[in-house]
Amino acid sequence: MAISIKTAEEIEKMRTAGRLAAEVLTMIEAEVKAGVHTDDLDRICHDFIVNDLDAIPAPLNYRGFPKSICTSVNHQVCHGIPGNRVLKKGDIINIDITVIKDGYHGDTSRMFFVGKPSVQAERIARISYDCMKTGIEMVKPGIHLGDIGHAIQQRAESNHCSVVREYCGHGIGLQFHEEPQVLHYGEPGTKEILKEGMTFTIEPMINAGRPEVKLMPDKWTVVTADHSLSAQWEHTILVVSQGYEILTLVPGTEL
Ligand code: MF3
Ligand code: CO
Ligand code: CO
Repeated sequence: MAISIKTAEEIEKMRTAGRLAAEVLTMIEAEVKAGVHTDDLDRICHDFIVNDLDAIPAPLNYRGFPKSICTSVNHQVCHGIPGNRVLKKGDIINIDITVIKDGYHGDTSRMFFVGKPSVQAERIARISYDCMKTGIEMVKPGIHLGDIGHAIQQRAESNHCSVVREYCGHGIGLQFHEEPQVLHYGEPGTKEILKEGMTFTIEPMINAGRPEVKLMPDKWTVVTADHSLSAQWEHTILVVSQGYEILTLVPGTEL
């Protein structure tokens, strides 16, 4: 399958889906506090998406995923399954929201602090944000995906952090995960050339220690092999003639 170029009608639907996904992250912020179970966060998001947004939580039953959001705490890299884990002061958590509205997907995630973060926790959250921002700001027609991957990798490694290789950003639209793969490492001038109308995510997973990851026995939760902290931010991006549009920004906010 080739990379799909979205029509004006499709782009309007992607804007709506993206905005709704962003609204879920805004809504859940007040609920991220010590003493909360991660499956409380899942239930609150599920009910908000279904009842208030009249949308579908894309993760639920996606390839067998059992919940409506992903919650990845501390050394968990991604795809954490909400459950009876209780958040405690000092934890950092990525909440990853994907909604389907009118057939189209919006996918975004961000880090939250539970209470006051340690210096190391604040640092890995900030560096992963900077990595995402570095990648997004490069997006425009004519550049290669390898240019973006290379810049993200440089940003991480110059800060003595590492880029997870096994998971990547992705094209998005009618499908949750479409072509192309958006690697967060690589070489300039390699991989696909961006064209106006492409939509994809940039979502670097950045580890404070080594890049290797392990899959937990639940077959979903990914953790750092060395148990170092990991952090991730994600936006859904549209390539426009002069650059990019971030489809998952909360209206009135900027990157
Ligand atoms: N939202 C994740 C991503 O950014 C994918 C989660 S797949 C799930 O691509 F099944 F775990 F939900
Ligand atoms: Co994604
Ligand atoms: Co996501």
